[in-house]
Amino acid sequence: MAKTKVLLACRECGRSVGQWMGRCPSCAAWGSIEAGPPAEATGTAPILSLLDDQQDETRLSSGFPGADRVLGGGLCRGSVVLVAGEPGIGKSTLLLQVAGLVAAAGGECLYASGEESRGQVAARARRLSIAEKAVSFIPGRDLPDVLASVRQARPDLLIVDSIQALRDPDQSSLPGGPSQVRACADALVGLAKERDVTVILAGQVTKVGEVAGPRTLEHAVDVVCSFDGDARTGLRVLAGGKNRFGAEGEVAWFEMSASGLTEVDGAARLSPSQGEAGAAVAVLTAGRRALAVEVQALVVPTDGPPRRHVSGLDPRRFNLVAAVTDRALGLRLSRAEVYGTAAGGLQVAEPGTDLAVAAAVASAASGRPPPPRTAFVGEIALTGAVRPTPNMAARLAAAGAAGMGSVVVPAGAVDPPTGVTLTNVRHLRDALFWATGAKQAPDQRF
Ligand code: TYD
Ligand code: MG
Repeated sequence: MAKTKVLLACRECGRSVGQWMGRCPSCAAWGSIEAGPPAEATGTAPILSLLDDQQDETRLSSGFPGADRVLGGGLCRGSVVLVAGEPGIGKSTLLLQVAGLVAAAGGECLYASGEESRGQVAARARRLSIAEKAVSFIPGRDLPDVLASVRQARPDLLIVDSIQALRDPDQSSLPGGPSQVRACADALVGLAKERDVTVILAGQVTKVGEVAGPRTLEHAVDVVCSFDGDARTGLRVLAGGKNRFGAEGEVAWFEMSASGLTEVDGAARLSPSQGEAGAAVAVLTAGRRALAVEVQALVVPTDGPPRRHVSGLDPRRFNLVAAVTDRALGLRLSRAEVYGTAAGGLQVAEPGTDLAVAAAVASAASGRPPPPRTAFVGEIALTGAVRPTPNMAARLAAAGAAGMGSVVVPAGAVDPPTGVTLTNVRHLRDALFWATGAKQAPDQRF
């Protein structure tokens, strides 16, 4: 016969507990634990009018306009948002910054960290110039402690970093396991609704892109965002997935620097100087998404040493690409100072942007602008061969979205989106023939 479990709950705050105890672990009331389900399970819940609730539309701003857009207009009160990303991508940094910004706007924030100690989080807060006193810290390993602290402190925003580090003592499995993650998420969803607290959960994603723990975690929460990026570049993207309060598919771009994450305006990256000599459009990737960015070069003849100076580009890669371009097109860069930069202060350092850097250098040296509305994607070998580049579909889509009508790509690239034509090239010369003043591309034998 199945064993009937006696339900015990606190008379004062409704917290259910697994065994009888003298003092409630949530509200610290003495002698308040008694048999019976918590208040909300008595069948006497009040019936509310849907339209009456004035608080419904008051959203909490995350402090980042782009993140608010991804969330569908800010954080809904009483909602639970999952921010999922690979380890090291910057979830803790993002969420601590959000906590700091919410606190600076007058919100009460509680940061529960199960992955880092108070000292570590405080050190990070200092580095991010967040007033340490503005955000309260609690250890985030023990679910009952977190629930109790929230009931006591009643913050506007609770951040749990991460859901995998949290443990429910009523579950026998290890922290991070499916039943633990599910139980903890359920308890936090309950808490969010019960106390009208907004909860953000950081969730670790495994290499294959799944949120570690059950997929049901994604069903339990209201909003799922992925935080993605490329470890080599500082570029990060927050992308909206499931959203009960807004549209899916919004993205916000960030850049990671020594002082934390700054939001960058992805759409505005290209506008300023299109069609000018020395400027070419590259397409960067961050995770599975891509962003079109302008790179610029300046070539100045000199009798002195041929200096090279870059900002926003990888100096070694830039020198190498400039040398290969020089050799392929006969630009005589050995008698020139060469400068390179990425527009908008972004860090452009991945090999897939080589061809655009080469186009900017060739254009600066020849004084001829690249063909209009053209982006360049491809990695360059020392021989001048243009190599295949990962994430081509996302890059082509981003180029199309940025208004590019044509993209110069390595041979064998995939189908372009509508409105974009591809020029397949095997060698730098085929891609940059316009810089030499030639009317036609060299013979392409493939
Ligand atoms: P973190 O937020 O700890 O990642 P996650 O929580 O997703 O595991 O960020 C880790 C990386 O970010 C780490 O390599 C250091 C870097 N970082 C910066 O570059 N600048 C900063 O200001 C901070 C706080 C971190
Ligand atoms: Mg972290």
